[in-house]
This record gives sequence, structure tokens and C-alpha cells, in this order.
Amino acid sequence: MCGIVGYIGEQEAYPILIKGLHRLEYRGYDSAGVSMINKNGDLSVYKAKGKVSDLEAAVSDKDVSGTIGIAHTRWATHGEPNATNAHPHYSQSKNLALVHNGIIENYKSLRKQLEKHHMNFVSDTDTEVLVQLIEYLQEKHNSDLYTAVQRALKNVIGAYAIAVLDQRHPDVLIAARKSSPLIIGIGQNNDKKAGQAEFFLGSDASPIIEYTNQVVYLKDEEIAYMDRAGNLRITNLSNVEQTPDMQTLQMNLDELEKGGYSHFMLKEIFEQPNALRTCIRGRLNIENKDVLLSGIIDHKERFLRARRIIICACGTSWHSALIGKYFIEEAAQIPVEVEYASEFRYRNPVITSDDIVIAVSQSGETADTLAAIQLAKSKGAFIYGICNVIGSSIARATDSGTYLHVGPEIGVASTKAFTGQVITLVMLGLAIAKEKKSLSADMFHMLVDELLMIPDKMQWTLDHNKDIAAFSQMFTYAKNFIYLGRGYNYPVALEGALKLKEISYIHAEGYPAAEMKHGPIALVDEEMPVVVIAPKRGMYDKIVSNIQEIKSRKGKIISVVTEGDTVVKGMSDHCFVIPDTRDCYVPLLAVIPLQLMSYYVAVAKGRDVDQPRNLAKSVTVE
Ligand code: G6P
Repeated sequence: MCGIVGYIGEQEAYPILIKGLHRLEYRGYDSAGVSMINKNGDLSVYKAKGKVSDLEAAVSDKDVSGTIGIAHTRWATHGEPNATNAHPHYSQSKNLALVHNGIIENYKSLRKQLEKHHMNFVSDTDTEVLVQLIEYLQEKHNSDLYTAVQRALKNVIGAYAIAVLDQRHPDVLIAARKSSPLIIGIGQNNDKKAGQAEFFLGSDASPIIEYTNQVVYLKDEEIAYMDRAGNLRITNLSNVEQTPDMQTLQMNLDELEKGGYSHFMLKEIFEQPNALRTCIRGRLNIENKDVLLSGIIDHKERFLRARRIIICACGTSWHSALIGKYFIEEAAQIPVEVEYASEFRYRNPVITSDDIVIAVSQSGETADTLAAIQLAKSKGAFIYGICNVIGSSIARATDSGTYLHVGPEIGVASTKAFTGQVITLVMLGLAIAKEKKSLSADMFHMLVDELLMIPDKMQWTLDHNKDIAAFSQMFTYAKNFIYLGRGYNYPVALEGALKLKEISYIHAEGYPAAEMKHGPIALVDEEMPVVVIAPKRGMYDKIVSNIQEIKSRKGKIISVVTEGDTVVKGMSDHCFVIPDTRDCYVPLLAVIPLQLMSYYVAVAKGRDVDQPRNLAKSVTVE
């Protein structure tokens, strides 16, 4: 959680830092802060509770000049979200300022020791302990900042991405990471001979891409020294020189803008047909009706001998994993278990070297999912990653994997990443089924053919549900919603309920439709909207009976039905239509009206759709 930006170079730092913070605001928005060193060598720190725009208002009459600076947007862990606990944090002498993303787990004992050495603390944060420790060690050993940071980090237990300024060294920026992400951007025109250079820092590439596409992904326990003369030096904590892992970013700046939509979430919902076309491009072959996933082809033997697949994920990714389980078991006939990464990592699960563990994560940075695969790896399992963010920590920790390629997802509530994950898991199931020959050739080709049509059918769904905006207004009164689905649509019910909760703050529960009579039906009355995913497929008759049960208790039925359906339509207060498709692909279409309904209910309630309260896009703390 939290976002970090940094800059050193010849340009004014403040505009670069603020723009970067806006791009990283999805990571947390409890408070924000900046620190710069101006041309007189004065180190300033400005902080504000709330969003980056609150920080901008707070500094409007302040001196924010300087060509070196660091900045932070926070999702509070230690200490309530107020200006005092906001980053950057000063050291006691105010010579140092530091921003941090992560958690220093042993901060209490470090703080006690530092207090014995007369270091005073003003905040409740773990981060202030780190900057004080650096200063203490700098003074004790009379060392430079880099060495002091190195020494301090050796004493730290936990996760960190940090950037540090020292007003006595206005030409130097220090950064380091462990577990939390940090990327260094190398200025396009860096010229060491001319002594001209600039470096950028970002928790992800979004604050950097506007200025350069040359980046270095810092690795765990690496510390970087950057100066205006163009020197970039990276070592590990033991001061062993490391070769920078230089990469060229493929990202496009347009992908980070709203493009005429009022919210990123709406843009991302409407992007889904194209996003999925990109996701399947080169992987689903129209001519010979084939699936080519290099991550599977390169490790064919490993997949063939797999006795079990375990999928670890959190949040929306857990829902897509559940759909993946249903499909992989059906198509590839391998048992699949779906685990909440946060539970899995702490319960000593039985894992063997015959297992394949798949991590599903949009951000590729979710701390629990990362820890879950590290545990599985230590027990010998083969680790496969399904991530969206290229070069993310999870992607780099896996043995093999498939990127979603659905483009950056900025809205905190996940939409296109969900459908991207589902289609990727389906392709993975098909690829394994092909190797195992667990499907007949006819069935395999039919599934590939139909999957190729899904982006067009998604577009149809978006085009034929234009009344959702007006209809959703009617439900702003509701305090609770129930979502029901069976089979492949049970995870869609979970996802629909989660979307509504996340952005409208209306309580919602997803249930397998038949389970309703074991409890939730007691909640149904004339006030209760019940959303039922009822495509004219598989268990249609059963779900019709479930709807009947709700109707006789006067619940309001909102249904997702197949185009042309009359029975469920006749029983519903409102219907969303989707085109016909195979059972296993219905989630890819049925989720779209549910995403739209959540969006419009939240807008009608005046919620902050892209940055809902208390949430963050990427949960890099456990
Ligand atoms: C947070 C986000 C969710 C996301 C979950 C897992 O809770 O708000 O939208 O589904 O983390 O994130 P991941 O990046 O691992 O998919």
C-alpha cells in the first residue's frame, strides 16, 4: 500500500512529484506529502490529511522550489490518517526526510532503543523509526547517508520501499526496497560526460512513463544511489555491487488517462471487449482453432505430471480463480483447490513437488499472495503467475506464467482485470486439456471457437444494457442486496456483491442460489433486491424455482437472462440481457451488467467511485 515518487535532475521537482502522486493515488489516499531541497539547501516537508488535491491546496502559498524531492500518498497502517502521521517523515535534526511503503514489523523495539539514545518521536508510525535509525547510525559511525541506510536496513524486519533525502547532500537521492515495489526511471538524455542527468522513482511505472521508458526494477534488499552527475550505483545490504536490471517500458501514456469517461472504472468496464481481444491475441488461433500459451508449452511435462493445482488469490482475483477451478476441473480433469492467500500462507498446507500453485493477481504486488507462493516454492511446488502488471513482484517470483495484457487498471474496483483473469484461466485450462487430451477434438475446437466470439458478445452486452444508469437510481434506497447464481455463476454472484459493497457501501452478499434456503431467505422482504444470474443454460429450471421462492417472499428480482428469455423475464422486476454462450463463458458476459449496476448505484449515491473509502488498489501489506 502507499505510493512513492522521487525525482533528482534539472527540472523543478514539485510538478513531477504531484503528477506522480495523482497517478499513484489508487494505492492509498488517506494523506499525502512532499519534501524538496531548494537552491539554498533547505529541506522542506509539507503534508496534508486526505487526498493529493488537499496537499496541493495546503502548499499553495509555500516555497515548493527545488530540483530534488520525494513524495508519498498513504494508506494508513500504523497510526491514524492525519497530517502528523503522513509521510515524508523528518529525522530528529530535520536533516533527513524519508518516505516509505511497507511495514517495519520490529518498529516498537527499535523505537525503544532509539528513545534510550534520546531520539524523540512525533508520530505513531513505524516509518519515523526508520528515518531516526538512519540518522542515529549516520551520526554514531560518522558515515555517509548510503552506508547509514544500508546499516539501518540490516536492523529492520519487514517490508519497505523507501526514498531518502539529506539536506547536507542535495545532489544525492537514495532508494531501497524489500517486498514493496520500487522502480527507477533513467532520464532519456542522461549524459554523464556533460554531468547532466535525471532519475525518477515510482512505486510503479505510472509516474515515470511520461519522462522516460528506461527503467530499473529494484530487487529485494537492493539499495540505489543516484546523483545529478548521472551515477547510479546499486548494491545489496552487504555492499556487494549489483548489475542494474535495465528494462524498456512498453506502457503507453494514454492508457493512464480517463479518455473522456467520468471515471476510470467506467472506462475500464467499456474497455473490456478490446482488452480481452488483446489478452487472447496470439494465444487463441482462429485458423487452426488452437491455444498457445508459452508458459504451458515451455513446461509441458510439469503440467502433465501435476496431480493437483492450487490457486492462491485475494479479493476479485479469488473470484476469477473460482471460475478457473470449475473450468480447469471440467476441461483438464485435474483437481483444483482455490485458497485465500492470507489463509493459505499461515496454515502449513500440504504441498508436494507434484503440485502446481497458481497465483492470480492483477497488481502482482498483493503481499499475502506473494507470501503464499513463496511458501509453496519452499515446499517444491511449481509456481505459475497470472498477473496484469508486467515486472511485478509476483510475476518475477514465479517459474512461469501468463500476463493478462488488459492494460493498466486504475479504478480501485477491479473490472477488466477480472474478465482478463477469467479468460486467461480458461485458456490455461484449454492448454492443459490439449496436452492431456482430456477433451475430444470437437469439443476443444468448439470451445476455442466460442471463446473467440466472447469480445464481440461483451460489446453486444454493453450496447444492449444502456438503461442500467436510469434503472440503478431506483436502488439507492437499499441497505442490503443478495446476489445468487449456480455453477459457474456462483462466483459471478460473489463478484457482483463485492463490486456493489466496494463502491456504493451497500451491504451485499453473494450466495450459491440453492443455499439461499439455508439462511439468507430469512432476510428477504419487499425491501430486498435480489440479483439472480439466470442464463438459459445448465441449471435454468433449478434457478427458476429459486426465483419463485424469492418472489413468494415479495423480494424484488433483478435478473441477468439470455436474450430471448421470457420465463425469467416475466418473473423479474428488471432484466439485464446477455447473448447466449456456453455455460463456462457466461461469467464473462453476466458480470458486465453487474459491474455497470454497481457503478451507477455508486454514482447516484455520490460515492467516490475510483477511490472508495478505506480501500486501496494494491494491498502490499498483510
Ligand atoms: C484489493 C483491491 C481488489 C483486488 C485485491 C487483490 O483489495 O481493491 O480490487 O481484487 O486487492 O488484488 P490483486 O492485485 O492481487 O489482484
